Amino acid sequence: MRTSVFCFVVAFALQYVLAAKRGIVTLYGSLDSLRIDSGPCPEYENVFEGYQDAIHNFTIEVYKHVAPLGTYQFVVSSHSMWMTLAAIAEGADHETQQQLFKTLLLPDNPCIRQSYYQLAASRFSLTPDVSVVSTRALVIDEGVTPNPLWHSFVTKNSLLDVITAPIKFNPPVAANVIRQVVYANFPRLNLRGNSVLLDTMDYNGLWNTAFADAVVKRAPFHNIAGQRIGSVDMMTVKRRAKVGYVPKLQSKMLELPIGTNNQYSIIIALVVGNNDLRPIIREMKSSIIKEVLGTLQESRVPIDVTLPQFTINSELDARTILEDFGIKNLWTDPEATRYISTPPALPSSYVQRSTLTLNKDGVNLPAVVELRSFGPPSSPEDQFLSEFIADRPFMFGLFDTETYSCLMATMYTQPTYPN
Ligand SMILES: *[C@@H]1O[C@H](CO)[C@@H](O)[C@H](O)[C@H]1NC(C)=O
Repeated sequence: MRTSVFCFVVAFALQYVLAAKRGIVTLYGSLDSLRIDSGPCPEYENVFEGYQDAIHNFTIEVYKHVAPLGTYQFVVSSHSMWMTLAAIAEGADHETQQQLFKTLLLPDNPCIRQSYYQLAASRFSLTPDVSVVSTRALVIDEGVTPNPLWHSFVTKNSLLDVITAPIKFNPPVAANVIRQVVYANFPRLNLRGNSVLLDTMDYNGLWNTAFADAVVKRAPFHNIAGQRIGSVDMMTVKRRAKVGYVPKLQSKMLELPIGTNNQYSIIIALVVGNNDLRPIIREMKSSIIKEVLGTLQESRVPIDVTLPQFTINSELDARTILEDFGIKNLWTDPEATRYISTPPALPSSYVQRSTLTLNKDGVNLPAVVELRSFGPPSSPEDQFLSEFIADRPFMFGLFDTETYSCLMATMYTQPTYPN
């Protein structure tokens, strides 16, 4: 440990001397945030809750921003974006760093930040039952040298990878490298800077309890006004689950566990009546996630659950989103990224791709429901919550059930088939 820190310091000093010789004035390591050993965290800090609040806040901010951009059909991995931007924040100049800390709700204490990063980096999974995989990369031009201190920090904390491509010398080759990293098309990839930021998240998992096998069938899908706008392949199951009603969202809620040990879950909000989604989204605060979690309760009766099967894929221009949040220097002022590399990384684009698939497969078969043992739903509330039929626009989030921080946030409004 001591030796590696020592090597590090030597490497850093060498780099600095070489840079100085070339006449490049960079002050690597002047940032407290890059100290390798940040000491013990203050004991009073509730890291878990701070991390949760940070992710919830960023998720809702991004969600509210992305939703009105298109057809209200999208998936966004705010979690992966949060990690990517945290890596950039750790090497940004003071002004940009403070802007990013504010946007990501990152505290000034570097030890607490590192604790957040540990929580964030341990949310992924690549097991036979659940795959939640994220790639986060800074692709830099050949000839751009990452600051070894920063590079080691972001690698150690699993925040970001640094990849080299001939951005200036051969843009088509660079564009290919980038497409291969993220399996995306990027119609408008701007390669005018020294680097490009990329991040992706892919979800594919088995429900803890499968949907009933034989009953996937084509069924109508409606808009908010209740008019049929196409159709989807519906999967159905009758089972007990956590349900609730959240007045602020005008929505019925349902939680369906994922994986052998319920490691993840999807929480769905289905707007009832003819309520317009737009004002509901505009009014969302990050506290809504905790309200939802507080409302969900195991149903007393089995619920008729009907959900479309689909794959949803979104590519987002994250640079524009961040510019709207007031983060502008990062893309235009080389000073902002001068602690990240020499010459400064100066990213010109930031693209995120997220892909999520829902199908009927599960770890366990659904239990045969003995209707008689439950009887008919007794109260009007039970009656209301005994059906969850997602044949109209709905929102949902993918959560890990240890921290209940949101990994992907989604809205589904566009049926698979036009009629
Ligand atoms: C996120 O946190 C900031 C700072 O606490 C707050 O002003 C903002 O309203 C929060 N955003 C949401 C969507 O709740």
